[in-house]
Amino acid sequence: MAAVKACNILITGANRGLGLETVKQLLENSCQKHIFATCRDPDGPKSEALRELARKHPSVITIICLDVDDPCSIKESAKKVGSLLGNNGLNLLVNNAAIVARGTIHTSRVEDMKNTFNTNVIGPLLIIREYQPYLQTAAKASRTPGMSCNKAAVINISSVAGSMTRKPSNHIQSPVLPYSMSKAGFNMLTVLAAEELKADEILCMALHPGWVKTELGGEKAPLEPKESVEGMLRVIGSLTEKQHGGFLDYTGETIPW
Ligand SMILES: NC(=O)c1ccc[n+]([C@@H]2O[C@H](COP(=O)([O-])OP(=O)(O)OC[C@H]3O[C@@H](n4cnc5c(N)ncnc54)[C@H](OP(=O)(O)O)[C@@H]3O)[C@@H](O)[C@H]2O)c1
Repeated sequence: MAAVKACNILITGANRGLGLETVKQLLENSCQKHIFATCRDPDGPKSEALRELARKHPSVITIICLDVDDPCSIKESAKKVGSLLGNNGLNLLVNNAAIVARGTIHTSRVEDMKNTFNTNVIGPLLIIREYQPYLQTAAKASRTPGMSCNKAAVINISSVAGSMTRKPSNHIQSPVLPYSMSKAGFNMLTVLAAEELKADEILCMALHPGWVKTELGGEKAPLEPKESVEGMLRVIGSLTEKQHGGFLDYTGETIPW
């Protein structure tokens, strides 16, 4: 299995769900690394599990406050992470945080549309913008040719719900129109970011975790976070420039945009 060997890794929404599971599994592989585990309320009750992990692994995990909805918080987090990185770059940025909102054309609330677009599209865009200099540093410092997650990469945790081609098959039974539209926007962000980051040899792609039992995925989901994240890390560890600008799921299968 290809392991994620990236040294400096940042994950958004790392306090619960797939973000927290990703931090846990990254700790299990033996490569030396530093994880910037970001969340919007590091001292709050929803971050207790992450604080506990950070207490056990103080030299590996640094918890950073980052509210994806707040441009000032994104800038502040980048300043803080930049000061901790020193001359070392950021190898891997995982845009994981997201919210879901339900509804059809008739029932979706304008507020929900704005909130999902803010968190799921604008936030990740600003994060890529603020962290790009650190990714560039990592790419330049790498002695290896081509692209990989161990060199410099942006992984956008997206959803098949944002695929134009697949169209959510259960849209009528369980409509999540604001979420699907935001993830379609996130997918386009991935494609355009891939264009812009190519010259710096920063890999950029979208990854669908499967339908997973989390607060967002719900109880009926068939996959446990452990299985989904194991798959995603396997995929991330094996990425090359061939997957740059692409969309895969946690098994490595290509998803059509
Ligand atoms: N679970 C699935 O079936 C599934 C399927 C397809 C795609 N995905 C994608 O997988 C990713 C992770 O989802 P999940 O299932 O782990 O969801 P989850 O359990 O609901 O966790 C969502 C995470 O995002 C964070 N978050 C939300 N808004 C934020 C903000 N403004 N600033 C910072 N953090 C924020 C949450 O933090 P708080 O605790 O502060 O709210 C939480 O850590 C998402 O991008 C989702 O779209 C999931």
